[in-house]
Amino acid sequence: MKIFLDTADVAEIREYAATGLVDGVTTNPSLAAKTGRDYADVLKEICAVVPGSVSAEVLATDFDGMMKEGKAVSKIAKNITIKVPLTWDGLKACRALSNDGLMVNVTLCFSPVQAMLAAKAGATFISPFIGRVDDVGEDGMGLVRDIRAIYDNYGFKTEILAASIRSVSHVREAALAGADVGTMPTEIFKKLISHPLTDKGLAAFIADAKKANVTIKTS
Ligand code: G3P
Repeated sequence: MKIFLDTADVAEIREYAATGLVDGVTTNPSLAAKTGRDYADVLKEICAVVPGSVSAEVLATDFDGMMKEGKAVSKIAKNITIKVPLTWDGLKACRALSNDGLMVNVTLCFSPVQAMLAAKAGATFISPFIGRVDDVGEDGMGLVRDIRAIYDNYGFKTEILAASIRSVSHVREAALAGADVGTMPTEIFKKLISHPLTDKGLAAFIADAKKANVTIKTS
């Protein structure tokens, strides 16, 4: 599964991209607002740090506006993916922008049939919001599984980008459900590596080596 960071914080992205494990970034208007900076400037910096897909969300809600904004953000860098909402105008824009060879991420997906429409509209990515589905007492991971089944039934190439990830379990379950990508806040990314037995085991190895004076010559 590809790992995307769900943040517009350039310093954080730079820090975690250095691991070599970050395949892309997703941003949205709420995350952009948190930076207090110009959205285009932020996107440009992120695209220079991460060579993979960087989602930039349009603010317009009508087709013409989305087309204008989508084309404008696509000029920021080659790795920009234009994010549009799952509305009729958003899907029309998705079709037109993907016909122009641009990458499109259709966001705010809450049902399997919405995801089917996005795939038919040529979306590069579909973003089901796992956490927000769970928030209303429904099954966020079930949504990912249903989309996987529909896409596999018909050979849709649209990648499932599991979004609104709130926990390490969400990451594990999304990977098991066949999501192509998981986008997550940096706090969750950091936690993916943790296991108490790894720490305990490493401490024991180092202590044993020290006790017996085991060394590795490097020159
Ligand atoms: O990727 C979508 C994400 O930013 C929404 O997350 O936690 O606000 O539902 P959340």
